[in-house]
Amino acid sequence: MKMINIVNGPQNVSAIIQGCMRMPALSKEDAAKVIRTAFDCGVNFFDHATCYGSGEAEERFAQAFPLTGIRREDIFIQSKCGLCLDRNEFDWTKDNILSSVDDSLRRLNVEYLDALLLHRPDLLFEPEEVAEAFELLEKSGKVRHFGVSNLMPMQIELLRKFSSQPLVINQVQLSLEQSQLIDQAFYMNNKTTDMSVNRDDSLLDYCRLNDITIQAWSPLQYGMFRGTFIDNPEFPELNKALAEIAERENVTKAAVAVAWILRHPAKMQAVVGTMNPEHIKDICSAANVTLSHHDWYALYLASGKFLP
Ligand SMILES: NC(=O)c1ccc[n+]([C@@H]2O[C@H](COP(=O)([O-])OP(=O)(O)OC[C@H]3O[C@@H](n4cnc5c(N)ncnc54)[C@H](OP(=O)(O)O)[C@@H]3O)[C@@H](O)[C@H]2O)c1
Repeated sequence: MKMINIVNGPQNVSAIIQGCMRMPALSKEDAAKVIRTAFDCGVNFFDHATCYGSGEAEERFAQAFPLTGIRREDIFIQSKCGLCLDRNEFDWTKDNILSSVDDSLRRLNVEYLDALLLHRPDLLFEPEEVAEAFELLEKSGKVRHFGVSNLMPMQIELLRKFSSQPLVINQVQLSLEQSQLIDQAFYMNNKTTDMSVNRDDSLLDYCRLNDITIQAWSPLQYGMFRGTFIDNPEFPELNKALAEIAERENVTKAAVAVAWILRHPAKMQAVVGTMNPEHIKDICSAANVTLSHHDWYALYLASGKFLP
C-alpha cells in the first residue's frame, strides 16, 4: 500500500481509504469481512459520517470491529458532521458539532476520532462558533485532527481566521468522469467549453498551497451517484483505455481508475466505497501501479476531455 503523511495531520496513512457510507446494507459479519480485507490490503483509514444510514454505518462498524481482531490504535477513524438530513438543514453550530461528535463516539464505541470533517457548508455558519467547538474537542481528546469536506477556499480561509487547529483535509468529489476539480485549470479562458468554468475558486491549487490533503470521494462514480463508469456501456472510450492499462499492469479497470487519482502530484487519498471484499482487493492493487505521465493523460482524454 502507498502510505502518505498528512502535513500537520495523521502520519503514515494509507492512500486508499475505505469509505463506510454503504455499510448499513451489510450484516455485522459481512462488515467485519470488509474491514478485515481492507486492513489486510494495507488500508488503515476508515471514513464515516453521522448521516450515513442516519448513524447506522457507524453502529455497524462498531458491531463488526471486534470480530476483525484489529486493534483500535492500528487504524485511523474519521467521521464527518454537519449534514442533518433528518432536519433538512446543514448545521455547524457549536452545539451540533459537539453533540454530533459525542454521538459518533458512542455509536463507533471509541474514545476518540482521528479526524473530524465538517461535511458540507452550513450557509449560516459562524466561524467563531466552529473554532470554539474544535478547541473543546481537541482539549478533551475527543478529536485529534480537523478538516472539511466540499468546501471552497474562501470558506476555508474564514474558518482558519478563527480556528487554532490546522485544517488538514478537504474531502471532495473526484473521478475520471467527475473531474471538474482538475478541468477548470486545463481549459482556462476557453469559451468553447463549460469545463473552463471555475466552479470551486481553484480549490486544487489552494489545497496544495496550504498543505491540505484532498480526499477524493466516489472515485468510480459518474454524475452524482449515478453508478459506476466501470464496465458501463455509456463510457466505451474510457473503458477501452482503462482495459489497455489494466491488462498491461495485470490489475482491474477499477484499480487503474483509482491509480489515476493517486498519480496526481497533489498526493491525494482516494475514498473507495465498495462493500465487496474481492473488489477491495482488486482496488488496493492500484497502490502498486504507477501510471506514466502519458497514461494519465490518455485516461483523462478517454473520459471525454480534449487538448485545449
Ligand atoms: N464527503 C462527501 O460528501 C462524500 C460523498 C459521497 C461519498 N463519500 C465517501 O466516499 C466513499 C465512497 O463513495 P462511493 O461508494 O460512491 O464510491 P465508489 O468507490 O466510487 O463507488 C462504489 C460503488 O461502485 C460499485 N462498483 C461497481 N463495480 C465496481 C468495481 N469493479 N470495483 C469497485 N466498486 C464497484 C460498488 O459496488 P460493490 O459494493 O458491489 O463493489 C459500490 O456500489 C463513501 O463510502 C463515503 O465514505 C463522501
